[in-house]
Amino acid sequence: MPTILLHLILWLLTARNLDACLGSERQALLNFKDGLKDPSDRLSSWKGKDCCRWKGVECNNSTSGVLKLKLRNPCDYYMDPNYYKCSLSSELRPSLVSLSELAYLDLSINDFGGIQIPSFIGSLKKLKYLNFSLAGFAGEVPPNLGNLSRLRYLDLSNTFSLFSGNLWWLTRLPFLKYLDFSTVNLTAASDWLDVVNMMSPSLSVLHLSSCSLSSIPTSFSIVNFTSLTTLNLLDNSFNSTLPNWLWKLNSLTYLDLGASMFHGPLPYALGNLTSLNVLRLGQNNLEGNIPGSIRNLCRLTCLDLSQNNFTGNITDPLPHCIWNDIKELSLGDNKFYGNLSNWLKHMTSLTFLDLGKNQLDGPIPTGLGKLSELTYLDLSYNSFAGVITEVHFHNLTKLYLLILSLNPLTVLLNQSWIPPFQLQIIGFRDCRLGPRFPPWLRWQTHIMTLDLSNTSIADRVPDWFWNITSSRLSVLDMSNNQLSGVLPSNMEFMAQLSVFELSSNQLEGSIPSLPNSLTTLDVSKNSFSGPLPSNFMTPNLYALLISQNQINGSIPPSVCQLQSLSLLDMSNNDLTGELPNCWMEYSQLSLIDLSDNNLSGEIPGSVANLSRLVSLNLDSNSFGGELPSSMQQCTRLTFLDLGQNKLSGIIPTWIGESLLNLVVLQLRSNMFFSDIPPQLAWLHGLQVLDLAGNNLSGSIPQSFGNFSAMASRSPTKLPNFQYWTFGLYGDYYYNERLHVMMKGQDEEYTKILSFLKTIDLSDNYLTGQIPQEIGRLVALKNLNLSRNLLSGKIPEMVSRIPELESLDLSFNELSGSIPQGISTVTFLSHLNLSYNNLSGRIPLGNQLQTLNDPSIYIGNANLCGPPLTNSCSSSEPVPREDLRHEDNAERKWLYLSMSLGFITGLWGLFIALLLNSSWRRSYFLVLDNLFNQLYVASAIFMARLSRKHAESRRNHQYRGGM
Ligand SMILES: *[C@@H]1O[C@H](CO)[C@@H](O)[C@H](O)[C@H]1NC(C)=O
Ligand SMILES: *[C@@H]1O[C@H](CO)[C@@H](O)[C@H](O)[C@H]1NC(C)=O
Ligand SMILES: *[C@@H]1O[C@H](CO)[C@@H](O)[C@H](O)[C@H]1NC(C)=O
Ligand SMILES: *[C@@H]1O[C@H](CO)[C@@H](O)[C@H](O)[C@H]1NC(C)=O
Repeated sequence: MPTILLHLILWLLTARNLDACLGSERQALLNFKDGLKDPSDRLSSWKGKDCCRWKGVECNNSTSGVLKLKLRNPCDYYMDPNYYKCSLSSELRPSLVSLSELAYLDLSINDFGGIQIPSFIGSLKKLKYLNFSLAGFAGEVPPNLGNLSRLRYLDLSNTFSLFSGNLWWLTRLPFLKYLDFSTVNLTAASDWLDVVNMMSPSLSVLHLSSCSLSSIPTSFSIVNFTSLTTLNLLDNSFNSTLPNWLWKLNSLTYLDLGASMFHGPLPYALGNLTSLNVLRLGQNNLEGNIPGSIRNLCRLTCLDLSQNNFTGNITDPLPHCIWNDIKELSLGDNKFYGNLSNWLKHMTSLTFLDLGKNQLDGPIPTGLGKLSELTYLDLSYNSFAGVITEVHFHNLTKLYLLILSLNPLTVLLNQSWIPPFQLQIIGFRDCRLGPRFPPWLRWQTHIMTLDLSNTSIADRVPDWFWNITSSRLSVLDMSNNQLSGVLPSNMEFMAQLSVFELSSNQLEGSIPSLPNSLTTLDVSKNSFSGPLPSNFMTPNLYALLISQNQINGSIPPSVCQLQSLSLLDMSNNDLTGELPNCWMEYSQLSLIDLSDNNLSGEIPGSVANLSRLVSLNLDSNSFGGELPSSMQQCTRLTFLDLGQNKLSGIIPTWIGESLLNLVVLQLRSNMFFSDIPPQLAWLHGLQVLDLAGNNLSGSIPQSFGNFSAMASRSPTKLPNFQYWTFGLYGDYYYNERLHVMMKGQDEEYTKILSFLKTIDLSDNYLTGQIPQEIGRLVALKNLNLSRNLLSGKIPEMVSRIPELESLDLSFNELSGSIPQGISTVTFLSHLNLSYNNLSGRIPLGNQLQTLNDPSIYIGNANLCGPPLTNSCSSSEPVPREDLRHEDNAERKWLYLSMSLGFITGLWGLFIALLLNSSWRRSYFLVLDNLFNQLYVASAIFMARLSRKHAESRRNHQYRGGM
């Protein structure tokens, strides 16, 4: 009998379980489900009586009340680009309030499309766990969440655009252990740290990354939150030194202060945080040596000090006690020096090693090959030297990223070597890899980014290369080698290819059809020939650079439809036909260089739509007709070179009235006629005015004394076209080229163009006197008025322009004596006064004594004295000034200012992506679906981002040197 009784009791219990769900709660759940959109039918099990058996629902075993709702999106946000198809969305119904026992609510990674967090959530009084991470909520965080007095876990991170006012309601949550507000805008919560201090001592985990926080008290009398084990303040804007209270948080195991504008030194008290496993201080402006107390942090497995100004020996931040256990080591972009001997080989747990951009030297030890866990290895931009062989890679079976760029390394790998790894990102820029095309690449079938720029490869690109790289390759840079051969006839199968950089090689054949994914094509300085393929214009192109080849045929009108195209350089080819007249208002073009081709026809009126155009170079073609007046709408034009064409008509006044940003105006060798409009002098930034070789008549406008940039010694800013490639250190520059006749020669100016200040009106029919106002242009380096019909005297003021290096007044009808001032012009190295009617004694002076070529003065019957052979009659006065020898200070100043350089970086369309420093951390995990194909490559970029601008300045100087 007792057994029967027992069975009865058991039956009663189980029966209750079978019919567990409370009717009212079932109704509430069904009502809640009705409010949701569920395209993937995740809630298909939500039917039938027992709601406790529904997917995602868990009940209290004794009361049958619903305890937990676990509705997290099962599709992987990070790995599954279609995760959103598994999202729940639409509406959150307040019927949840009927679930009187609900303690756990997880709606993370769903898509509530920017609705507010409903205020009824604050009525779910039994909640202990609330997770709305990545659930797409927006608006203000409801302060009535402070009513959830049992809450232990609150995660509102990575939502749509939540913000919060003050956070005092958090102090009403006495049991809260875990708080993640990452990406909630806390701009208005400036007293956030007071709140944290008032919160219960139970708080253990605090994530406030990307919260737009700017204030952080550096000292605190009483620190209440010493129970914190995790503190994450990544990506805020504190602009502060590291706060003192940090070093009292001695329970911390995880500390992330990355990318938050901290500056100053790392204090000795760091050594108090002996529990730390993870220390991230990257992307700040911290400086100085690493304190010796770091020796106490023996539990570190991850140390990120990258992108700061730390200095000292590379071994300083690497206490012996962490050698065996450290997994992630990011010290890149600092000023550490030293070498890798005697320590690297001991770090056998390393998975991630970034030492790039430091001052490290010595060889790369072969012990590297023993670090079998290594996945990420960046040693770029140091001074490592010596030879890399197979031994260095011996056990690196897990490596997916290898960057050795910008070191004087020689890579000597056996031709038959089969690498142990499958790399995705490869950088050997400026290493010596050639002369053979590396055969081991044949085994690397997962490559996404490959940088072999300037690696001394002098070989044909093997056919297999295109096949193995076809599916994933996104960034390819093999510029500056001696690659030969042809490209595959059709490259559309390279469906991920975004950046294709092959400039300065010896490739030939025609340019193939390219995939639609392409954003940057640079095949300039090769021997490509033939016409452009008909479907050449792929829709995502940002930069199209094919200069210095032998491309023929015409420019396809489809070029007008490229909505992203910003840089177009087809100069120095054999293009014929007309410039398409189809430019659209949406055009992003800021640069067009079609110089040195055989283009003809008129400049089309639709150029008016190129409202972003900054630089237009059509030099050396056969364009004819008049300038279209619609061109005056291109008001951003800074550089305009239409020289050496067949343009005619008058020089329009609107150039001076509308194109007010012009710095360079080059109209040389055309057929413009009539007067020079005085309005040109309204171009206050103009530095280069070249109207030579036309049919201009009338006099030189007196207003020409008003070119203020030519009167100022500082250079005017020319746009500097720079584009990012996501390659490794792969930022490229387009520089305007300009031919200037100076010192009697045709010189091509590129990098130092911004320092050139010149007026060339030679070879026209200009009459009248040289306006003395030109003498106000004290920074002018070149003045060429030769081969006109100018008369009168040489104005004294013009003769003493102090920066003048070249003065040519030959073949005019100038008369009178040569002004004495000309002998004071220190830099004058080219002077031509021949074939005028000048008379009298040639002035003497330090500079003129070196200009002792009689041809300077030839054709002036009445000049006398050295260097001419006819001596002056004694009645001729000796024009001589008491000349202080002007010292070289000014000259030095000039060189200095040249080397300082400047940049107006055209950051291009990628910058938004690059700037998002909070993504940086995710490196290879977050394959955000939008930027999927570019991601891994761009992650490298992000890792270097905060220094990028400074970096590019430096590069610019380096490349742009005299
Ligand atoms: C309820 O019981 C099931 C199995 O009978 C068990 O897995 C679950 O953890 C229990 N839930 C609670 C909240 O006790
Ligand atoms: C945060 O909110 C402030 C206003 O409170 C706003 O000015 C700022 O732009 C917001 N920041 C972000 C990153 O959205
Ligand atoms: C520290 O926390 C307690 C409550 O836990 C609070 O009463 C006290 O005011 C806090 N101290 C400071 C300085 O905020
Ligand atoms: C940081 O603070 C300094 C002075 O405290 C100030 O000069 C500087 O402009 C600030 N920087 C930013 C980016 O706010």
